[in-house]
Amino acid sequence: MANAIIEVSNLEHSFGDVKAVDKVSFTVEEGEIFSFLGPNGAGKSTTINVLTTQLPCQAGTAHVCGFDVRTKRQSVKKSISIVFQDEVLDRDMTVRETLEFHGRIYSMPRAERLAREKELIELVELEQKVNVRTKHLSGGMKRRLEIARGLMTRPRVMFLDEPTIGLDPQTRHKIWDYIKGINEEGTTIFLTTHYMDEADALSDRIEIIDYGKIIATGTSESLKNTLGEDMIYLETGDDVKAAEIARAMSNVTEVKKTSKGLELILNADGSKVMPAILRSIGNESIDILSVKMKKPSLDDVFVHYTGREMRAESAENMFHRRRRH
Ligand SMILES: Nc1ncnc2c1ncn2[C@@H]1O[C@H](COP(=O)(O)OP(=O)(O)OP(=O)(O)O)[C@@H](O)[C@H]1O
Ligand SMILES: [Mg+2]
Repeated sequence: MANAIIEVSNLEHSFGDVKAVDKVSFTVEEGEIFSFLGPNGAGKSTTINVLTTQLPCQAGTAHVCGFDVRTKRQSVKKSISIVFQDEVLDRDMTVRETLEFHGRIYSMPRAERLAREKELIELVELEQKVNVRTKHLSGGMKRRLEIARGLMTRPRVMFLDEPTIGLDPQTRHKIWDYIKGINEEGTTIFLTTHYMDEADALSDRIEIIDYGKIIATGTSESLKNTLGEDMIYLETGDDVKAAEIARAMSNVTEVKKTSKGLELILNADGSKVMPAILRSIGNESIDILSVKMKKPSLDDVFVHYTGREMRAESAENMFHRRRRH
């Protein structure tokens, strides 16, 4: 049986009139990769900042590794590490000095620190850059160094706020690999992202957050399945009549005419109900010209629960915003 390593109940946080986090409750199991997926301003960073004790816990409760974030700040901080959304590196320190400094702050014994530095530099593939100042690293290299720094102290939980924001696809995939590797070695991962593909590729479980509230929870698969819908695009010799037949079927909840032909929304597994739909239409001697079944994506899940698309600020803009800090 897995243990809850993060337990949050009715957490709230406001900035003046803005309720950034609004009665949020969730549990993260030890050993999992858990994602907060949501658009800009959803409250992802605010939640991380409360859980990592960067911000006070105004209302509700939060425990990390069994420690109350209100009363056991030091114990929480010793158990975790954070990779912030905004880059926080000393520009004049080299890669090695950055790791060394972090190890010293945490009073790591010298031999252990040196071994860990070497191991982590290899993990994030910065061997060629050990003596380069961080101001001369690329954006992706800086991110990799921040991840390595976070791992120096072997945290039980690693918080990663938008780990791949503004990075090229190749670097993003590398970072996903590091995150998976870190998790396989036993570190619980809490990450935030506004990238659907990132949440999909990495997470054991996802919470979708919007305007400070959790609007859906589950595995990527279960979230898509809870829509209870598959979609079929159908072109027939007589769409009007075919639509009538489809509408009468119990597993079809909606039929629309679109530029792609007839769009059928299903409340059941499409692969199971499609044969019956096609048979009923065929029985009326209507030609079936083309059939395409579509499984709902995480985008569809977001639209379903919010009624709108998750219009993320472009990665480019966010990257520039991040660099201005
Ligand atoms: N220090 C602050 N002062 C005032 N308002 C803030 C502050 N930090 C965040 N907010 C507001 O709280 C809300 C949630 O912000 P938060 O940074 O948690 O969102 P986010 O989900 O991390 O968004 P992003 O994807 O853009 O990083 C927003 O409306 C934001 O403007
Ligand atoms: Mg944020």
